[in-house]
Parts: sequence; C-alpha cells; structure tokens
Amino acid sequence: MILVFGKTGQVATELRALLPDAIFLGRDEADLTDPNLCAHKIVTLKPDAVINAAAYTGVDKAEEDEDTAALVNGKAPTEMAKACATLGIPFVHISTDYVFDGAGETPFSTDHPTAPLGAYGRTKLAGEDGVRAEGGTFAILRTSWVFSAHGNNFVKTMLRLGSERDKLTIVGDQIGGPTSARAIANACVEMARRLQVEPKAAGTYHFSGTPDVSWADFARAIFAEADLTCAVEDIPSSAYPTPAKRPSNSRMDCHTLDVTFGINRPNWKAGLADVLTDLEKTT
Ligand SMILES: NC(=O)c1ccc[n+]([C@@H]2O[C@H](COP(=O)([O-])OP(=O)(O)OC[C@H]3O[C@@H](n4cnc5c(N)ncnc54)[C@H](OP(=O)(O)O)[C@@H]3O)[C@@H](O)[C@H]2O)c1
Repeated sequence: MILVFGKTGQVATELRALLPDAIFLGRDEADLTDPNLCAHKIVTLKPDAVINAAAYTGVDKAEEDEDTAALVNGKAPTEMAKACATLGIPFVHISTDYVFDGAGETPFSTDHPTAPLGAYGRTKLAGEDGVRAEGGTFAILRTSWVFSAHGNNFVKTMLRLGSERDKLTIVGDQIGGPTSARAIANACVEMARRLQVEPKAAGTYHFSGTPDVSWADFARAIFAEADLTCAVEDIPSSAYPTPAKRPSNSRMDCHTLDVTFGINRPNWKAGLADVLTDLEKTT
C-alpha cells in the first residue's frame, strides 16, 4: 500500500486517479505543521512506500510566513523521511527549481550548487537537506511550473484572463519547463515502485516539461490551443514586481532521471491538450 500526504493539490489529485487503492491524508488528517504527527501516521499505517505531494506552495505568502513554510516544507518532510528510513521503505518527495538562483542560461544539473532567492525556495531546500540527511531510500524530484485541470495555476489563470481581455502583458524573460501534474504523479509512482526493488536508485532528480519556454510563449501556446484570440506582449520581470523574486533561468537538466528510471521529459504541449480536454468535460 502506498501512503500519500496531500489530497486536494494538483499532484495529489492526479495521484488519486492513478492510485485508487492508496491512502491519502489531507490537511484534516495530517497537518504538516505537526511534523511528528506525520511521522506517527507513517509508523502506524506501515505502508510499502510514501509519496509527499503536500507543501506550502504560496511563493509570495512565504516571504511573510516563513516559519509556517519552514515547518511544512522543511521539518515535515524530514520527519517523514526519518519514519520511512526506520521502516526501510521508499520516500518520494517533490521539490522545486526555486532551490536555484536562476543565474545563466544553462540547464541546472542535479548537483549544481543551490542558492534560493526567497523564503519558499529556502524552506524547500531545508526539506531536501533534511530528507537527504536521514539516509533512507529517498527520491527527491525537483520539478517546475506545475499545471493541471485542478487548483490554481498559470494555465487556468490564462484561460480565464484570455477569455476576458484582448491583450495581456506577460513576463518574457523567465524561462522554464511547464510540467503537467499528471506527468509528475506518474513519475512519483514509478519511482516509488522502482525504489522498493532497487534502493540504490535513491537520490535527487530533475523532471520538467519540454521544450523550455518563457511565460509569454507559454501563454501564447495556451491561447492557440484554446482558440482564444488574446494578444501577448512580452514584458521584463522588472515590470511585474512580486514580493518573492523568481529565478530567470528555471531550465533543468533531467537526463539522470532518464538514465536511472527511464523517465523522459514530458512534452508540455501534450499535457496542455489533456488539461483542456479535462476542463471541457467538467464545464
Ligand atoms: N505549483 C508549482 O508550480 C510547483 C513548482 C515546482 C514544485 N512544486 C512542488 O510540487 C509539489 C506539489 O505541488 P502542487 O502544485 O500539487 O501544490 P498545490 O496544488 O498548491 O497543493 C498543495 C497541497 O499541500 C497541502 N497543504 C498545504 N499546507 C498543508 C499543511 N499544513 N498540512 C497538510 N497539507 C497541506 C494543500 O492542502 P489544502 O488543499 O488543504 O490547502 C494542498 O493539497 C509541492 O512539493 C510543490 O512544492 C510545485
């Protein structure tokens, strides 16, 4: 049996569709601000593997609420990893490109030095470090620009704004790989299963959609796919100030995931088409 932390988030929702027999713990059953409770759930439920799909994902909010973000993103996954190590079971944990500073134009390798630009990235990095330090059979999957038919994300915001306006200004100088939550869920399950039989595959991996694009180009692709005639004007990040600074370069080198697990970068255009189909079914 696989135990999943998270029930309502983008990735957790896709995991629910994929794993009908798994146990999913939402905030009401396992609040990640109580890391010891999370560990206790693992030890008492005795699963075969654990996937952590819950996180404090409010990037701007974390700037003013770093203590809570540190508990949820740092301490909780650390305690989960410790409990998994005690039971000798795999722990799959999702992290982010925000652990890097976004400098340069080269894709970040998994061993590139980390240097988060803000509170969210710092707390996610603390979680990574905690998980690695526990020394169990872990997989840390760093991903980026997550989108799905559920929850709040760039695709859904663009679909709403694109149907209301003739023209939008979108940041054109941040480049990354949009990644469908469904593809992340598939990767997490594959890794959890493989780690059960191949613990030496434990480690830190990158997984982002291909090809890398700017937010502005991603918006254009969304409008084209949805038949919306909204024009997009590129603007620099400096013209769209936010409480937390975003990395300019979110490109990630994903080849070690392919070499070790045979998991390739997912094409985000296919993921986008799936999301639009899912949204059509629900409206
Ligand atoms: N979204 C992105 O663009 C992005 C980019 C890179 C990496 N990631 C990483 O990918 C993973 C999945 O992200 P996502 O986009 O699926 O997230 P999401 O849609 O924002 O969902 C986050 C989930 O975490 C839960 N959660 C938050 N605080 C909690 C707490 N104190 N106790 C229990 N549950 C709590 C939320 O529950 P409620 O519904 O109750 O609030 C929600 O189910 C995360 O590790 C995230 O850091 C995301």
